[in-house]
Amino acid sequence: MSTDVETSASAAATGNLPEEARRFFANPYDAYQHLRTKAVIWDADFGFWRITRYEDVDAILRDKRFAKNPPPGVPDLRPIQQVDRFSSGILNLDPPDHTRIRSLMVKAFNAKRMEAMRPVIESLVANIIEAHRADRTMELKGDFAHPIPATIISDMLGIPEDQREHFAQLSQDIIRFGNDLLAADDEAADEAIREFDDFLSALVREKRANPTDDLTSALIEARDDGGALSEKELIHNVRLLFIAGHETTVNLICNAVLALFQNREQLAYLREHPDKMSDAVEEFLRFDSSVQQLPRVAQEDVEMHGETIKAGQMIVLMLGSANHDDRRYEDSEKLNVDRTFHRAKSFGGGAHFCLGAQLARLETEIAVRKLITELPGLCITNMDSLSYPPNPFFRGPEAVQLAWD
Ligand code: HEM
Repeated sequence: MSTDVETSASAAATGNLPEEARRFFANPYDAYQHLRTKAVIWDADFGFWRITRYEDVDAILRDKRFAKNPPPGVPDLRPIQQVDRFSSGILNLDPPDHTRIRSLMVKAFNAKRMEAMRPVIESLVANIIEAHRADRTMELKGDFAHPIPATIISDMLGIPEDQREHFAQLSQDIIRFGNDLLAADDEAADEAIREFDDFLSALVREKRANPTDDLTSALIEARDDGGALSEKELIHNVRLLFIAGHETTVNLICNAVLALFQNREQLAYLREHPDKMSDAVEEFLRFDSSVQQLPRVAQEDVEMHGETIKAGQMIVLMLGSANHDDRRYEDSEKLNVDRTFHRAKSFGGGAHFCLGAQLARLETEIAVRKLITELPGLCITNMDSLSYPPNPFFRGPEAVQLAWD
């Protein structure tokens, strides 16, 4: 039987109680605090276990008794099964396929290469600000945050400039469906993915004929040279790269800006010390992560805190809750860009640690620094009427209106 806390969090997560759900999605952290009174919670409504505390989330991310899929011979007890349209992306694979494909992709994302992107991102962000400066207003998510990861990942994948708008359009649908696990068998999702993949197939054909210095060409080379990657794996992983780095980074930028405007002394401090911005990004990741939950499957029966997680059952690692665990963080509900702290779990951990973590950090650091230092009198004009989509896995506001002098 579920407790009151579990019931209200589940009800909020399903959207069955509109007002309660609205409050939950506007601020899930109070509910998380209640949930953390128990380390492992059976969510009867969804049919999975919730893991609420930092220590357990951190350990499970590196524990081989938990993986993405049930092992052969173990029944799949997940309430939502993996669907084929995402199956060959590394995000959903276990070793040995995961190890093989990830090793091909990881080179493109090393810290040195990412740091070399700094001037490109600096000039992109400067251009976006200049394009809007005279308007004295813009919408944070669509006008400012979205074009940053969208342009950078399009550059990295080698998507021609004249095709980017169409590509971004298609990706919006996929992102919507990719975010919404409950719509996993929706026909419209299949259609959107088919169109997106047709587009990617054409891109791959073009790059195969005329390779350039980009990630798609590098992956094609790996695919063609010794068959380290199948055609399906190639397409699914290019699609994954495009999608994984999009909404997550857009939402992190938005969550960071909101956090600063809700904590003015921190905003003032960063304006005075813009060199602290890269530390601040670590705190933004902890304070209000754009990824809130990650699923895993038990490979065998596992005893935890007096509960038995059965082989084949799904667990959900509550990253947002772990990041606010006061067993780990002093004053955990407070934004403190200067805290000496241990890394948040927002990029996951272990074998699936986010491939784009360095890129996302860099994009967020430059975006937030330029935004708060270059537009005098910057303010948010709809702070009292912000809304959040009812998505328990991903977190970020709908429109945020900015204005400046
Ligand atoms: C703030 C921005 C981002 C956040 C919060 C984020 C978060 C995450 C998390 C939590 C995982 C682990 C998933 C799991 O263990 O199940 C992950 C994996 C991944 N991320 Fe990110 N991500 C961000 C940006 C990016 C960017 C910019 C890219 C690439 C351009 C990217 C590409 C990937 C890929 C390819 C994986 C799969 C890695 C694997 O399964 O081995 N991410 N991300």
